[in-house]
Formats: sequence, structure tokens, C-alpha cells
Amino acid sequence: LQVFFLTSEVSPVAKTGGLADVSRALPLALAESGVDVRVGTVAFRGVDALPGFSLRKTFVAPTPVGPQSFRLFVGSLGPGLVPVYALDPGGLFDRPALYGEGGGEYPDNFLRFSLWTHGLLALPRLLGFSPDIVHANDWQSALAIPLLPHVDPQGAVRLRTVMSIHNMAYQGVYPLEDWPLTGLSPSYNHFDALEYHGRLSLLKGGIQFADMVTTVSPSYRSEVLHEPMGFGLSSALRHRGDRFVGLLNGIDDEEWNPQTDPHLPVHYGVGTLARKEGLKERLLREWGLFGRGPLFGVVSRMVSQKGLDLLARALLSEDPLREDRGSWVVLGSGDPGIEGLWREVARRFPGRVHLTIGFDEGLSHRIMGACDFLVVPSAYEPCGLTQMYAMRYGTLPLVNPTGGLIDTVVDGETGLWLGELSEEGILAGIERASVLYGSPKKMKESRRQAMKVDSSWLGRAREYEGLYRETLELPPWHLP
Ligand code: ADP
Ligand code: GLC
Repeated sequence: LQVFFLTSEVSPVAKTGGLADVSRALPLALAESGVDVRVGTVAFRGVDALPGFSLRKTFVAPTPVGPQSFRLFVGSLGPGLVPVYALDPGGLFDRPALYGEGGGEYPDNFLRFSLWTHGLLALPRLLGFSPDIVHANDWQSALAIPLLPHVDPQGAVRLRTVMSIHNMAYQGVYPLEDWPLTGLSPSYNHFDALEYHGRLSLLKGGIQFADMVTTVSPSYRSEVLHEPMGFGLSSALRHRGDRFVGLLNGIDDEEWNPQTDPHLPVHYGVGTLARKEGLKERLLREWGLFGRGPLFGVVSRMVSQKGLDLLARALLSEDPLREDRGSWVVLGSGDPGIEGLWREVARRFPGRVHLTIGFDEGLSHRIMGACDFLVVPSAYEPCGLTQMYAMRYGTLPLVNPTGGLIDTVVDGETGLWLGELSEEGILAGIERASVLYGSPKKMKESRRQAMKVDSSWLGRAREYEGLYRETLELPPWHLP
């Protein structure tokens, strides 16, 4: 079984969120169970400095704007198990950020990702491999799905495609004037194809034409079948019937292991939880936090999806911050407005709230190790990975029960659910957490239960393998 896995993010090449973690851990787990999986990704700035990555060749491929020269960098994930093909279409990704800076989007993103996708589709022939499955992820590579039958009409007869949706809110929606950049014939400018409310949606193209469509948790699958959660595509998804499935993400439990984590100065496990207390003390001291009670953590993109504006407003609604609201360590970046709210929180409550605006992998691990609770008040959450990382570290997730958060956190056992997503609801949730914290025996039992949950990819990757095999047995969904 050979799979070509297309993704705009894969750790360590590029990461803005969970897609990068999934695109690393899932292919590694598949490879371990014998699947020949290769990852096609972006040659993001600095790729040539990554250990094991080097320029393999330069080639020219046809694109909607004419023949384009590409640089192909090759490396691998893990111990050489999964080849990674990182493509650079003429320096378009040699920028400080992947999608845009200062919370915005680069104006030429459609051009960048279209050229990149066209280049990816030239790779199998160029490198002499013939995938059984092409697996696209999110809008950035979704165009590959309608394009494939045209790029390689012979291969496409046998080949099957899988479209995975990690977030319905990001679709790659562009004006119809830019249609030529798709590289597709105008017959695709149609309600049953890419047309989306007078514009074009790349994700919609993937949904309409893939042989199988997946998303990243069973609960999110149910939610997006209806508006507003489907972001305008719920009827297209309903149309897919049982060719649309929800498979729960897993985590890389070697990378996220409190017994070996190189970012932690002290290691611990279920039987040595007292040492976790030491990590907390260290962080409190380092950042001059003096709040008694629980330590709450946030590690997140600062965008409205994540509910961090509400959380900041909930804390700002009190002055002084009540003693039982504990101390806070917050790491994130994104929307300048939400970053501003958190700056205000940190300014208002010195000694109680420590804020880091930025992206810091090492710090994210230390926060997971040190905190008592990780707060995830998302308005919607396709799957969410941080709550699973937290659980593995004995840090109890306090979550809004939506999407994958429902499927991964058991209220009162491995974490806590908010009763309502509002400022009051969040404060009530914090209060519940403080009460639990005040009862050390119960707290310890919950931590233990959370740490024992097996969220590793090994089992969950088998579901993908089963799905690939099932898809290969099915007749093609739609050959335009
Ligand atoms: P999403 O993909 O919607 O951002 P996930 O929970 O699936 O949410 O994945 C987020 C990933 O990004 C996790 O690995 C998390 O640790 C990481 N992350 C988010 N913000 C930061 C940050 N500021 N610094 C370091 N890691 C971050
Ligand atoms: C998206 C979602 C997040 C999910 C991640 C990986 O970024 O917002 O919920 O965990 O993709 O699938």
C-alpha cells in the first residue's frame, strides 16, 4: 500500500498548529505498520538547514501560469522511515511566515498554493513512484483532488483519493476572476464543483471529488453536517453519506512523554506525580507568580475559534482577581486584538498572570509539565491536540465540550467540561477546577486517570490504513 500524503505543514519543516503534528505522527505510525507513505510538503524558509534535508533536484513542471521551475528538497521523518518531499515553487515560500504575517494572509496565497500543488502532482512520475492513495489535507492541497485525473489520466483510473478536513473554517476561498489559477476547466465553476457563493472554494473541490472524505473526530463530523458549523459546506458533506467519516486524531506519545521529555528539567510518571509539583514551583518562581492555588495554562493560537477573547474578558471582569482563580501562564500568538486583550490581563494582574506572545515549542512542553489545568474554551474544535498532551502530563483539561474535545475528555474523570461558553460559564468552570484542586485525593485520582488514557497514534493509524484499503475496494466516487 503506497500513500502520497500532501500537507502544507509537517514538523519540523513548518508548523502553525495541529496539522503539523498530525502530518508527522500519522505517517510515522503508518510506516511502522508497513505502509509505504511519502509526505509532500512546502519547502519553507530554512528547510535546507534541517538535519538530513538537502536539495535533490530542480525541475520544470506545467502550471496555470506556464512552465514553472521547482526546487525539490528531500529529507525524512524519524529514522528514515518516511521520505519527505519539500517543494519550493520559485521562492514563493521564502518568507517569515507560512500563510501571512500580523494575523493576515499573504495576498498571493492562491498563486503560492496552486503552484505548489501542481508541482507536487508532478513528483510521482519524476521520482518513479505510483501511489495507490493520494491523501490531501485541508484547503492548501485540496486542489490536488480535482486536478489529479487531468494530470495523470491513466494513473488516475486506479488511484483513489482521500480528503481530510482539519478545520471547516479555512477553505481557500478566492474570487472567480482568479479562476485560471486553479488550472481546471471552466466546467468546474459550478455549484456541484468548486463554486461557492459567487466565489471558488478549494476545500469544496476536495470534498466534491475525493473518493473518501474524513475529518478529525466523530463529534466534529456530526457537527459539520449542519450549519453554521459546516461553514457553508454542510449540504456538500451530507451528500457524501458514509463516504464521509470522523477518525479521531492521536498524539505522538514519545514526543509527549513526561518521563523522557528533553524540555523538562525533571521527569515524572503516574507513580511519581510529586515531582510534577517541583516543575510548577520552578515556573512560579521563575516568573514571579505568587498566586496560591491551581496553576492554569493556555497554549494556543490566539484566534476567535479558541475562545481566548472570552477567557481574557472573564478574567478582566474581576479586579482584583479572586485568590481561588489561581495563577496563569499563557502562551500564544495570532489575532492582534486577542493578543492585546491578553496584554491587558497581564498588565492588570502582575504576579498572577504570565504572558508569552509568540510560538515556542519548548515552552509549550514546560507549561504542560508545570500546570494543574490546561484551559481550552474553544467555540468549536475539530479535534484539538493540546488537551491530549495535557492529559498525558497529568494536567487536567478544562474544555468547552465541542467537537474532538467531547471525544477525548471525560467530564469529572479525565478533565472538566464548561457548563456554558460565556464569561460566567468560564468563571464557573475555573471555580469547579479550584474546588477539585482543593481536594488533593480527588485531584490525584483524576490526574492518574488522565495519564492512563491511551491516545497514541499507533492504534488510530490503523483506522486510516483500514480506510485506505476500503477506499481502494470502492468504485471511484466521481470522475468528471
Ligand atoms: P490548532 O491546530 O487548531 O491550532 P491543536 O490543538 O490541534 O489546535 O494543535 C495546536 C498545536 O500547536 C499543538 O501542538 C500546540 O502545542 C501548538 N501550539 C499552539 N500555539 C503554540 C505556541 N504559541 N507555541 C508553541 N506551540 C503552540
Ligand atoms: C486543526 C483544528 C484542530 C485539530 C488540528 C489537527 O487545526 O483546529 O482542532 O486538532 O487541525 O487535526
